[in-house]
Amino acid sequence: MYRIAVIAGDGIGPEVVREGLKVLESAAARTGLRYELQRYDLGGERYLRTGEPLPEGVVEELRGFDAIYLGSIGHPEVAPGILERQLLLRLRFELDQYINLRPVKLYPGVETPLRDKGPEEIDFVVVRENTEGLYSGMGGIQYKGTPQEVSTQVHITTRFGVERCLRYAFELCRRRNREKKLTLCAKTNVLTYVHDTWWRAFNEVGDADYPDIQRDYAHVDATTMWMVKNPEWFDVIVTENMFGDIITDLGAMIQGGLGVAAGGNINPQGVSMFEPIGGSAPKYTGLNVACPIAAISAVQMLMETLGEEATSRRIEGAVERALVSGQIKSLAAGRMGLSTSEVGDLVAAYAGE
Ligand code: IPM
Ligand code: MN
Repeated sequence: MYRIAVIAGDGIGPEVVREGLKVLESAAARTGLRYELQRYDLGGERYLRTGEPLPEGVVEELRGFDAIYLGSIGHPEVAPGILERQLLLRLRFELDQYINLRPVKLYPGVETPLRDKGPEEIDFVVVRENTEGLYSGMGGIQYKGTPQEVSTQVHITTRFGVERCLRYAFELCRRRNREKKLTLCAKTNVLTYVHDTWWRAFNEVGDADYPDIQRDYAHVDATTMWMVKNPEWFDVIVTENMFGDIITDLGAMIQGGLGVAAGGNINPQGVSMFEPIGGSAPKYTGLNVACPIAAISAVQMLMETLGEEATSRRIEGAVERALVSGQIKSLAAGRMGLSTSEVGDLVAAYAGE
């Protein structure tokens, strides 16, 4: 019996999470998977009501679950940085979810803005380091508001943090068993300290333990170029936190948009958290028009990470069938030709067949 914590969150979060759970219920009825859900009321609404982004004790409770399913966090009436730092990043850091795993996979039937590219060419995974780099929160502002103002935001890089992320990426590359090519995305020509640590660790770990994996390197600026021009060059990309944040939004676009892009914040030894990466989309809130596919795929990733292959495959198969069915006109919010819940019904029906 799995215990899953559900944080539906803000904006369209609750609407898309509802569909993800609908599909899970339908698949689980077939595979015999047993689970129970516990809901947590967290996010901007809660913060505005109580002044508390993440109440004491909740992180400790969350440690006790098998996984966390997150809708989205973000509220137009909350100043930037509060929910991000004190809720989302705090969960990632305190639960030591040191991997942010973001598949960039174009499913058949989904339109990409890249001309002449299809599902054959767009199928790679970004492994984003999720606890260090510019996200660490170290730094500060001195002489604020004066002409002498000085601010720093420290790029934290530890050999430990880099190495565990690299090892995860090498292992994933081996497991995927495709081209067995791992691309390090960094900026070694400018970030000559922090990315030197990445570069040396990449080569040392690769030489010592992953001779079967081909190593490749691309600067981050060139990576964005190749992702558009030759996405088929990539199998697994491993990168630091901020670069991973940026290139995975580009990744989401080439795989058909934020409506299909899912990700996992993974602690391979602890509790992981899965989410559609698209955000709260306030302007679509409550309209039942947002695309729930990303949220459904997040559930699929959750099941895969728990080792529940049958349920995971059933959900992925159902998503694929829904996408080629011709019934969903577009994956853009408001242009699907179906409502959020109708898309959920469609996928759930396939998942239950
Ligand atoms: C993401 C988001 C977050 C990030 C924000 C909301 C802190 O953009 O999950 O990609 O930068 O990691
Ligand atoms: Mn982002």
